[in-house]
Amino acid sequence: MIRYRLNGRPVEAEPGITLLFHIREQLGLTAAKRACGEGVCGACSVIIDGALMASCVIPVERVEGKTVLTVEGIEAAEMELYVRAFSEAGAVQCGFCTPGMVIAAKALLDRTPKPTEQEVRAGIRRNICRCTGYAKIVAAVLRAAAYRRGERPESPPSGPEIGGRLPRVDAEAKIRGSAAYVDDLSAPGMLFGAALRSPHPRAKLLSLDVSAARALPGVVAVATWEDIPGERYTGHVIDDWPALIAVGEETRYVGDAVALVAAEDEKTARAALGLIEARYEPLEPLRDPEAALAPGAPAIHPAGNLLSHLELKRGDASGALASSSHVFTGTFSTPFTDHAFLEPESALAFPPDDEGVVFVRTGEQNVYDGRKYIAATLGLPEERVRVQSAYVGGGFGGKEDQTVQHHSALLAWLAGRPVKCTLPRAESTRVHVKRHAMKIDLSVGCDETGRLKAVRARVVADTGAYASLGGPVLHRAVTHLGGPYSYENIEVEGFAVYTNNPPAGAFRGFGVPQVNFALESALDALAARVGISPWEIRWRNAVRAGDVLPNGQIAGEDTALEECLRAVKPAFDAAAGAVGIACAFKNTGIGVGHIDVGRCILRIRADGVTLLTGAACIGQGLATVLTQIACGTLGVSAGQVEVVAPDTASTPDSGTTTASRQTLITGEACRRACLSALAALPESAAVQHGPELLAELAGREFHGEFEAETDPFDSVKPNPTRHIAYSYACQLAILGEDRKLARMVAAHDSGLVVNPLAFEGQVEGGMAMGIGFALTENFPLKDCEPTARFGTLGLLRATDMPQLEVHIVRREGDTRNAHYAAKGIGEISTIPTAAAIAGAYYTADGLLRNRLPLESTPYAK
Ligand code: FES
Repeated sequence: MIRYRLNGRPVEAEPGITLLFHIREQLGLTAAKRACGEGVCGACSVIIDGALMASCVIPVERVEGKTVLTVEGIEAAEMELYVRAFSEAGAVQCGFCTPGMVIAAKALLDRTPKPTEQEVRAGIRRNICRCTGYAKIVAAVLRAAAYRRGERPESPPSGPEIGGRLPRVDAEAKIRGSAAYVDDLSAPGMLFGAALRSPHPRAKLLSLDVSAARALPGVVAVATWEDIPGERYTGHVIDDWPALIAVGEETRYVGDAVALVAAEDEKTARAALGLIEARYEPLEPLRDPEAALAPGAPAIHPAGNLLSHLELKRGDASGALASSSHVFTGTFSTPFTDHAFLEPESALAFPPDDEGVVFVRTGEQNVYDGRKYIAATLGLPEERVRVQSAYVGGGFGGKEDQTVQHHSALLAWLAGRPVKCTLPRAESTRVHVKRHAMKIDLSVGCDETGRLKAVRARVVADTGAYASLGGPVLHRAVTHLGGPYSYENIEVEGFAVYTNNPPAGAFRGFGVPQVNFALESALDALAARVGISPWEIRWRNAVRAGDVLPNGQIAGEDTALEECLRAVKPAFDAAAGAVGIACAFKNTGIGVGHIDVGRCILRIRADGVTLLTGAACIGQGLATVLTQIACGTLGVSAGQVEVVAPDTASTPDSGTTTASRQTLITGEACRRACLSALAALPESAAVQHGPELLAELAGREFHGEFEAETDPFDSVKPNPTRHIAYSYACQLAILGEDRKLARMVAAHDSGLVVNPLAFEGQVEGGMAMGIGFALTENFPLKDCEPTARFGTLGLLRATDMPQLEVHIVRREGDTRNAHYAAKGIGEISTIPTAAAIAGAYYTADGLLRNRLPLESTPYAK
């Protein structure tokens, strides 16, 4: 027996387990998270005898006789300081990394009470945050240090009104580690589920023998394709993704599930997988789109290997290119990349209750999508499935598909007991969708003054094994390729092609970061040929209100790209090192004629209000935004607003957290619900907000709904409204003397900003992802099989980050103060970053780089 002190109390553990397993699974302390499993992300950090350590790779034997501290063990008064500091600084987004960051902060501050910024960065460098870009975490640690020294750092204004820097309403629970993510949950009699995955990207499954697995003591249920009571195939747009591969069927990638096991403990479940005999006939995989489209290539799906083909044509691109003074022609390529959300996929499913309802706890981007797919898999009407969200530890588009949800439900259905499936990191990385690898051929022409005349392009996207959202991603790539510029001759053809690579789907930016890199790099080359600066060519072409975008939509009155360019001009002119610049635009909302509805229910209580919406908060801060809308409209305080977690049993369907849509679309639904409440007040009511409103309307319920109406892609209108709104941005990248990225300056137009603190966090986090995309991130494949571990994905650490500067821009004269005036920020923050950085290196050495991650930089391997 191993004895050590945990949070001041003596504890005992059996040898042969990790410290994290003992703390979480056996003692039930869940602040330390199970995330990477390889000791590189810091989410499981604890302090052992004063030293910061990753508990996921430490055998419990190593702490014999030592003292171990988790967030739960930090003394109450000190913990209060971290809660204040991290909340006020806006350091919390999805929160999955946060307890590890707090422990890292404590380890540092115990040693160094007055650290410099660099010391803070070094102190948290073993902790990865995928959401924040670290700037606000560094600020939080410096703030916590000041509080610990008894100082009173200036408190930022933090009002709950629209435009106030209200700290996240869920920050405290995340900082204390009490916010429950799915893997933190358990249930009486709970089993652990695991999946056998195909070792081959393309192989015929010849036979499957699960008898030895079934016979293993501790195994309660084994599922194969024959055990699926409903539909075997589900999918967002096309039902092409099987829950389990059937005997006789071909596998399509190495993440395909072949069989499932539920057992009394995780170790037994994984041992049982090793007893399953699956015989395959390996087949030559299709490694890239060219091979998949070649004549005679085997069809991965019955309809062939071309998932989607799109054409956008306006004006006469060929003629305009022929008459252009300067034409740039080139080919650009971008790799697959991984979302690397800190929380691996997890779902906890319960067998049917007395009313035959299957209950599933998930952490995904839309509980209603989850319900639909689980019901289809189980062959049940949707009303017999209830999906409720736990906290979500990041998504970035990677939690829109089914990974563990339907598997846990199927196992619970078969076992008659609750089943939790949590993917180990390596399996998560192997299974979930990626950012599309793309190849972009383009020609861009301008006149002698740099005014753009035309773009002609061909985009080929590797959509991997399954459709997921590959079609819509290609669509966004095609309609955004022309950039936020004013010209009308465009011809873009796009192809999304199935291969045997991991499926590609939604990922922050939705196909636009790839094409933005190509177009903006081409603009830099043209500026050099014309003899004007990279800023000037963008200024001369920037779309203004009333201009027609290359995709045909008329830029709205709110369009503030010009203001974004003005905001970065001083920094561009003053840049001491080489500077690059890129602009971007990005749709808010699903658009192109699809149904896009936000819904929110407002319940008035005597002591406050409750907001119910199925819209998922995956770290972006929706609950805080909705709280501010309710406060701003009804005059209640933030503490009086409760936002209920998405639950198909109680919260209305408000669509997926995708397309940067929730602040505008669900936010407007929330505002409308609040306005309905105001309208219901009797004229005699003395005061129409605050306590008087609650007293008057307590017990009543108001529904708000907002539908964003747009024109379909094939609309014959000369200027179709493809999207309800576009956000605009301009970012600068400035290199230091060491040729490393020293500073990013971002100016963003997202219309009305509900919460500037959260907004800055989105921009900083988005830029961090864009910097990784530009310089370090990759997802290499060998014969269609991923070769990267979490630690080699190229994720940036606090010490890798440049200075980040964020300017919030809004068009002068845009006085629309309805919440509807808000536009999205989640995705656009990532889009221009890579091109700006590429531009900085082009300025520095004249080499126009055409691949990501960029070659010939200090970061290149
Ligand atoms: Fe750090 Fe999400 S807040 S990973």
